[in-house]
Amino acid sequence: MSTPTSLTHDNASSSSAVEHDSHEWHPPQAGDSRSPCPALNTLANHGFLPRDGKQLTGPILTHGLEQGYSLSSALAHVLANGGVALLGQFGAFDLNDLARHNRIEHNASLAHDDAKPRDEYAPIAPNSKLITQFLEQAKDGRLMTVEDVARARVWRESQCPGLNAFQAEIARGEMAIALGIFGQRNSDKEGIPVDFLRTWLSEERLPDGWKPTHTQGLPETIRTSRKLFNEMKRIEKDGENTAPGRQRVMVDAMLFMFVLALCVGYFFIGSSKFV
Ligand code: HEM
Repeated sequence: MSTPTSLTHDNASSSSAVEHDSHEWHPPQAGDSRSPCPALNTLANHGFLPRDGKQLTGPILTHGLEQGYSLSSALAHVLANGGVALLGQFGAFDLNDLARHNRIEHNASLAHDDAKPRDEYAPIAPNSKLITQFLEQAKDGRLMTVEDVARARVWRESQCPGLNAFQAEIARGEMAIALGIFGQRNSDKEGIPVDFLRTWLSEERLPDGWKPTHTQGLPETIRTSRKLFNEMKRIEKDGENTAPGRQRVMVDAMLFMFVLALCVGYFFIGSSKFV
């Protein structure tokens, strides 16, 4: 049996370690190509795209998006072929090519560091601190709603200014599709379960047991992106504090006040018995 360091890719062929379930999750091996896109890396890690992330084309991406995330064929075509056109590269490409700065890749990402000045390619490995800060934006700690994503985007764009309108639109679109694919309704709220998002962003893995529940189409993705835009404008207009972790600080402060009130009450009631 071949080892992960052999010249043939262990996970690429049907005679590989994953032959019993071709969509099992396997992390990339040495020499595999990966991108700054969690969605595409996840598809490669599950074998919906070539596991080595190489020799990709528009039709291969389209097929992977339809199979892995159940995107409608219109949305998959727009994303895959639009992406290839923006990349401006002739012939097949590797996932790593997508990290080319200022093509599709842009600054102010939610999970990745910005490209260093004068670098042609942006970092690919997710930054765990940024991911934690992003997840902290979920107000109730469980569901990442449109409002939470909007707050996260306002914060990141304030930290890394200079996105042009088109890049800002792409950045909103990325999370609009994710909200469409993974979004769930819990009582009165709709959003992505924070645990799902953590797994997807940090391990580039589909959440355990997750299967697409519907076909995600272009019109609803555009609608969610518009909602994100409007919510971002509202947050900016209201001058909301968008720094991550402030929800936690508020909860801690309220807890502190509650305990203090209890202690004071106990002290007065206790001491009044002796008067
Ligand atoms: C199901 C479809 C897709 C979803 C849900 C999705 C989602 C995302 C998300 C959430 C990010 C942001 C990561 C971050 O902020 O750090 C991202 C980044 C990116 N995506 Fe995708 N994506 C999809 C398809 C595609 C396609 C088809 C392409 C190209 C052909 C692509 C190229 C990129 C690139 C280059 C980035 C890096 C942008 C940056 O600098 O943050 N994505 N994607």
